[in-house]
Amino acid sequence: MSATLYQQQREHIASLQRAYQQCLANHQLDSLAIYSGHARNHFADDHATSFQSYGHFIHWVGMADVQHSWLVIQSNQRPQLYLYTPADFWHLPTQLPEEPWVAEFDVHLCSDKITPPLSGRAAVIGDVTELESAAQLANVATLQPEALVRELDELRMTKSAYEIACLREANRLAVAGHQAANAAFIGAAAELDVQLAYLAASRQRESEVPYQNIIGLNEHAGVLHYQHYDLSAPKQRYSLLVDAGRRFRGYCADITRTYTGPDAPSEFGALITAMHSLKDELIAHIAPGVDFVALHEKMHQGLADILVAHGLYNGSAESAVEAGITRAFYPHGLGHSLGIQVHDVAGLRQPDGTPSPAPNAHPALRLTRPLQPGMVVTIEPGLYFIPMLLAPLRNQSHPVNWTLVDQLAVCGGIRIEDNILVTDSGSDNLTQ
Ligand code: GLY
Ligand code: MN
Ligand code: MN
Repeated sequence: MSATLYQQQREHIASLQRAYQQCLANHQLDSLAIYSGHARNHFADDHATSFQSYGHFIHWVGMADVQHSWLVIQSNQRPQLYLYTPADFWHLPTQLPEEPWVAEFDVHLCSDKITPPLSGRAAVIGDVTELESAAQLANVATLQPEALVRELDELRMTKSAYEIACLREANRLAVAGHQAANAAFIGAAAELDVQLAYLAASRQRESEVPYQNIIGLNEHAGVLHYQHYDLSAPKQRYSLLVDAGRRFRGYCADITRTYTGPDAPSEFGALITAMHSLKDELIAHIAPGVDFVALHEKMHQGLADILVAHGLYNGSAESAVEAGITRAFYPHGLGHSLGIQVHDVAGLRQPDGTPSPAPNAHPALRLTRPLQPGMVVTIEPGLYFIPMLLAPLRNQSHPVNWTLVDQLAVCGGIRIEDNILVTDSGSDNLTQ
């Protein structure tokens, strides 16, 4: 661990301590217990489903796979970590990392699943619904108090120097995976081969990815959250879309690249280049105070320009936006807050906690608040040929070039996604 990262983590923990002390005071609490969560077994089986610890637990300890453990924060005391480490010869108990946070906590290694000790006015957050002790906890503490959780969510919206360093490292590791995925595509691999190449180069096993990697060849590139990995390579190679990440100390990268294949219509490569430029142009507009909804709308204008410039739409760019044409080619949001969760918390609230839902015209947008320094967001413009969304337009009299659309449909679509830090003067692209 570098000296800088070491010091940054100490400062991160110290600042979390101060912020939590303030939250306890704001909510007249003496103690707060944060449950890590635990994995559920498949129904009638003894194997568990995939698992990720509760975000507010990871915020302190940086480990995304800790189960049956508790963190207790009390006013004017050191954090108490009750780490579940059973005597178990079937599994390796959780190992504590050699990181400075460990020295800032009182760590209790627990061989049993415990109920956290709570004193005075207490609250409990995390998924405790299926714990045997849930009723007992409800007697001595407020469970999941909404206003408190909102305030803790807000703490995660702007990132500390330590968190930014972790997000940058997650990006560096993910970029190595993306380079290997592209090489595998050039080598005519199947989707599963691309996935395995990505995992190997980004040094992670599949259960550790922050979200299921989206690896779509050809039409599958147009399925927004495509979830399979075909075992054999298609005969024709038109396109590859890879939306894949990596965690570092709990913090997520979320990067997408799209590549043209040897059998694609030539216009597809030109569209990918145009989408890269649009992504860079949108990033150039990022600065404190920028309204993310307005930036999302700017994306639609840029996409309309591309549809016109590349002969997909033979009307004006303005009319393509007004008539909802761009929404049929791009049905998701421009981006979201990124951190301990890929779609991080508090994106649909104003800084004072009031709800800020997505506008009716853009219901999939996950971030509606103005940008401020320290926020990390994704910028992910796209252009897709999704039959289900384009079909209703075919019966209308819009000047869409359906011949070209139909030629390009075999390529599925394009998404380009970078992870961007908002700085005091503009932005810093973490995806290099
Ligand atoms: N990988 C999911 C997303 O880009 O939001
Ligand atoms: Mn994303
Ligand atoms: Mn993504």
